[in-house]
Amino acid sequence: MSVNQYHGFLKRESPRNSEYLEECAKIINDHEIEIDEDKILDLLQITKRFPEAAIKVLNHCGLMSDQFFDANKFLIYERWKKLYDYGFTTLLNNVLDLTADLRSLDQKILPLKGSYTNANFYLSKGTMSRRPSFDLHNHDYDVIVKPIYGKSIWVVGNEEFELSPDTIIIIPAFTDHCVVSSPEKRLSLTINLTK
Ligand SMILES: [Fe+2]
Repeated sequence: MSVNQYHGFLKRESPRNSEYLEECAKIINDHEIEIDEDKILDLLQITKRFPEAAIKVLNHCGLMSDQFFDANKFLIYERWKKLYDYGFTTLLNNVLDLTADLRSLDQKILPLKGSYTNANFYLSKGTMSRRPSFDLHNHDYDVIVKPIYGKSIWVVGNEEFELSPDTIIIIPAFTDHCVVSSPEKRLSLTINLTK
Protein backbone atom coordinates (compact mmCIF):
# COMPACT_ATOMS: atom_id res chain seq x y z
CA MET A 1 0.00 0.00 0.00
CA SER A 2 1.35 3.42 -0.92
CA VAL A 3 1.78 6.06 1.72
CA ASN A 4 -0.56 8.33 -0.25
CA GLN A 5 -3.46 6.17 0.86
CA TYR A 6 -2.94 7.21 4.44
CA HIS A 7 -3.82 10.50 5.98
CA GLY A 8 -0.33 11.65 6.81
CA PHE A 9 2.51 13.98 6.12
CA LEU A 10 5.28 11.49 5.95
CA LYS A 11 7.49 12.52 3.11
CA ARG A 12 7.08 16.24 3.59
CA GLU A 13 7.71 16.49 7.31
CA SER A 14 9.61 13.42 8.44
CA PRO A 15 11.89 12.11 5.66
CA ARG A 16 14.37 10.56 8.12
CA ASN A 17 11.74 8.24 9.57
CA SER A 18 9.51 7.82 6.58
CA GLU A 19 10.39 4.24 5.60
CA TYR A 20 10.13 2.94 9.14
CA LEU A 21 6.90 4.82 9.72
CA GLU A 22 5.46 3.51 6.48
CA GLU A 23 6.27 -0.08 7.48
CA CYS A 24 4.65 0.40 10.89
CA ALA A 25 1.65 2.05 9.23
CA LYS A 26 1.16 -0.84 6.83
CA ILE A 27 1.14 -3.38 9.67
CA ILE A 28 -1.27 -1.30 11.73
CA ASN A 29 -3.52 -0.57 8.77
CA ASP A 30 -3.74 -4.23 7.75
CA HIS A 31 -4.31 -5.57 11.26
CA GLU A 32 -7.94 -6.40 12.12
CA ILE A 33 -9.12 -5.42 15.58
CA GLU A 34 -12.56 -6.82 16.38
CA ILE A 35 -14.05 -4.78 19.17
CA ASP A 36 -17.35 -2.96 19.45
CA GLU A 37 -18.91 -0.77 22.14
CA ASP A 38 -20.48 -3.72 24.01
CA LYS A 39 -17.13 -5.50 24.09
CA ILE A 40 -15.15 -2.53 25.40
CA LEU A 41 -17.80 -1.81 28.05
CA ASP A 42 -17.65 -5.49 29.01
CA LEU A 43 -13.86 -5.35 29.36
CA LEU A 44 -14.12 -2.26 31.54
CA GLN A 45 -16.11 -4.27 34.05
CA ILE A 46 -13.23 -6.64 34.77
CA THR A 47 -12.49 -6.08 38.42
CA LYS A 48 -8.94 -4.91 39.12
CA ARG A 49 -7.84 -4.68 35.47
CA PHE A 50 -7.99 -0.89 35.59
CA PRO A 51 -6.01 0.69 38.41
CA GLU A 52 -5.76 4.41 39.00
CA ALA A 53 -4.02 6.14 36.05
CA ALA A 54 -5.21 3.43 33.62
CA ILE A 55 -8.32 5.47 32.79
CA LYS A 56 -8.93 9.18 32.59
CA VAL A 57 -11.82 11.27 31.36
CA LEU A 58 -11.39 14.59 29.60
CA ASN A 59 -13.71 17.10 31.23
CA HIS A 60 -15.24 20.11 29.51
CA CYS A 61 -12.46 22.37 30.85
CA GLY A 62 -9.99 20.28 28.85
CA LEU A 63 -8.53 18.68 31.98
CA MET A 64 -8.15 14.98 32.78
CA SER A 65 -10.32 13.66 35.59
CA ASP A 66 -9.87 10.41 37.53
CA GLN A 67 -12.57 10.65 40.21
CA PHE A 68 -13.86 7.10 39.72
CA PHE A 69 -11.53 4.84 41.71
CA ASP A 70 -12.22 3.03 44.96
CA ALA A 71 -10.16 3.03 48.17
CA ASN A 72 -7.96 0.28 46.67
CA LYS A 73 -7.44 2.47 43.60
CA PHE A 74 -9.41 0.31 41.17
CA LEU A 75 -12.09 1.50 38.78
CA ILE A 76 -15.67 1.95 39.98
CA TYR A 77 -17.33 1.13 36.67
CA GLU A 78 -20.73 2.73 37.40
CA ARG A 79 -19.13 6.01 38.46
CA TRP A 80 -17.05 6.14 35.29
CA LYS A 81 -20.00 5.06 33.07
CA LYS A 82 -22.03 8.08 34.14
CA LEU A 83 -19.40 10.36 32.59
CA TYR A 84 -19.27 8.18 29.48
CA ASP A 85 -23.06 8.43 29.12
CA TYR A 86 -22.86 12.23 29.32
CA GLY A 87 -20.63 12.11 26.22
CA PHE A 88 -17.21 12.80 27.73
CA THR A 89 -14.18 11.19 26.13
CA THR A 90 -12.24 8.50 27.99
CA LEU A 91 -8.56 7.73 27.60
CA LEU A 92 -7.51 4.13 28.38
CA ASN A 93 -3.77 3.81 28.80
CA ASN A 94 -1.60 0.98 27.63
CA VAL A 95 -4.20 -1.36 26.10
CA LEU A 96 -2.11 -3.68 23.94
CA ASP A 97 -2.63 -6.58 26.38
CA LEU A 98 -6.41 -6.26 26.43
CA THR A 99 -7.51 -8.70 23.68
CA ALA A 100 -5.86 -11.29 21.43
CA ASP A 101 -6.03 -8.89 18.44
CA LEU A 102 -4.24 -6.18 20.41
CA ARG A 103 -1.60 -8.56 21.77
CA SER A 104 -0.84 -9.81 18.28
CA LEU A 105 -0.51 -6.24 16.97
CA ASP A 106 2.13 -5.56 19.65
CA GLN A 107 3.99 -8.69 18.52
CA LYS A 108 3.87 -7.58 14.86
CA ILE A 109 5.31 -4.13 15.61
CA LEU A 110 8.03 -5.46 17.92
CA PRO A 111 10.60 -6.59 15.32
CA LEU A 112 10.35 -3.27 13.48
CA LYS A 113 10.43 -0.99 16.46
CA GLY A 114 12.64 -2.95 18.83
CA SER A 115 10.53 -2.38 21.92
CA TYR A 116 7.03 -3.17 23.15
CA THR A 117 4.52 -0.51 22.27
CA ASN A 118 2.40 1.79 24.35
CA ALA A 119 -0.98 2.35 22.76
CA ASN A 120 -4.07 4.06 24.13
CA PHE A 121 -7.78 3.82 23.41
CA TYR A 122 -9.93 6.93 23.05
CA LEU A 123 -13.51 5.99 23.80
CA SER A 124 -16.62 8.13 23.44
CA LYS A 125 -20.36 7.73 23.14
CA GLY A 126 -20.27 10.65 20.70
CA THR A 127 -20.99 14.25 21.46
CA MET A 128 -22.21 17.41 19.73
CA SER A 129 -21.78 19.61 22.77
CA ARG A 130 -18.98 18.23 24.97
CA ARG A 131 -15.27 18.64 24.27
CA PRO A 132 -14.32 15.79 21.87
CA SER A 133 -10.61 15.63 22.72
CA PHE A 134 -7.51 17.67 23.50
CA ASP A 135 -6.88 21.05 21.92
CA LEU A 136 -4.36 21.32 19.09
CA HIS A 137 -1.04 19.88 20.31
CA ASN A 138 1.95 17.87 19.17
CA HIS A 139 4.37 15.25 20.53
CA ASP A 140 8.11 14.70 20.27
CA TYR A 141 7.44 11.18 18.92
CA ASP A 142 5.57 9.74 15.94
CA VAL A 143 1.98 8.59 16.43
CA ILE A 144 -0.30 6.40 14.32
CA VAL A 145 -4.05 6.54 14.91
CA LYS A 146 -6.26 3.60 13.95
CA PRO A 147 -10.01 4.13 14.26
CA ILE A 148 -11.82 0.96 15.39
CA TYR A 149 -15.39 2.24 15.00
CA GLY A 150 -17.08 5.61 14.47
CA LYS A 151 -16.22 8.61 12.32
CA SER A 152 -14.53 11.77 13.60
CA ILE A 153 -13.20 15.01 12.14
CA TRP A 154 -9.49 15.71 12.62
CA VAL A 155 -7.06 18.51 11.98
CA VAL A 156 -3.50 17.35 11.29
CA GLY A 157 -0.98 19.95 10.18
CA ASN A 158 -2.91 22.32 7.95
CA GLU A 159 -5.55 19.83 6.83
CA GLU A 160 -8.99 19.01 8.15
CA PHE A 161 -10.57 15.68 7.18
CA GLU A 162 -13.06 13.03 8.21
CA LEU A 163 -11.50 9.87 9.61
CA SER A 164 -13.39 6.60 9.25
CA PRO A 165 -12.37 3.07 10.24
CA ASP A 166 -10.98 2.21 6.79
CA THR A 167 -8.13 4.70 7.14
CA ILE A 168 -5.34 5.39 9.59
CA ILE A 169 -3.49 8.63 10.30
CA ILE A 170 0.27 8.96 10.53
CA ILE A 171 1.22 11.92 12.70
CA PRO A 172 4.98 12.53 12.56
CA ALA A 173 6.66 14.03 15.62
CA PHE A 174 6.02 17.75 16.17
CA THR A 175 2.99 17.81 13.82
CA ASP A 176 0.03 19.65 15.36
CA HIS A 177 -3.17 17.62 15.58
CA CYS A 178 -6.54 17.40 17.30
CA VAL A 179 -10.01 15.90 16.99
CA VAL A 180 -12.39 18.74 16.19
CA SER A 181 -15.64 16.78 16.14
CA SER A 182 -16.69 13.35 17.38
CA PRO A 183 -20.45 13.06 16.83
CA GLU A 184 -20.65 9.23 16.69
CA LYS A 185 -19.82 6.43 19.08
CA ARG A 186 -16.08 6.19 18.66
CA LEU A 187 -13.19 3.97 19.62
CA SER A 188 -9.74 4.70 18.25
CA LEU A 189 -6.34 3.24 18.99
CA THR A 190 -3.45 5.68 19.28
CA ILE A 191 -0.11 3.96 18.84
CA ASN A 192 2.78 5.92 20.28
CA LEU A 193 6.09 5.10 18.63
CA THR A 194 8.10 5.85 21.72
CA LYS A 195 10.81 3.96 23.60
FE1 LIG B 1 -1.88 13.72 20.44
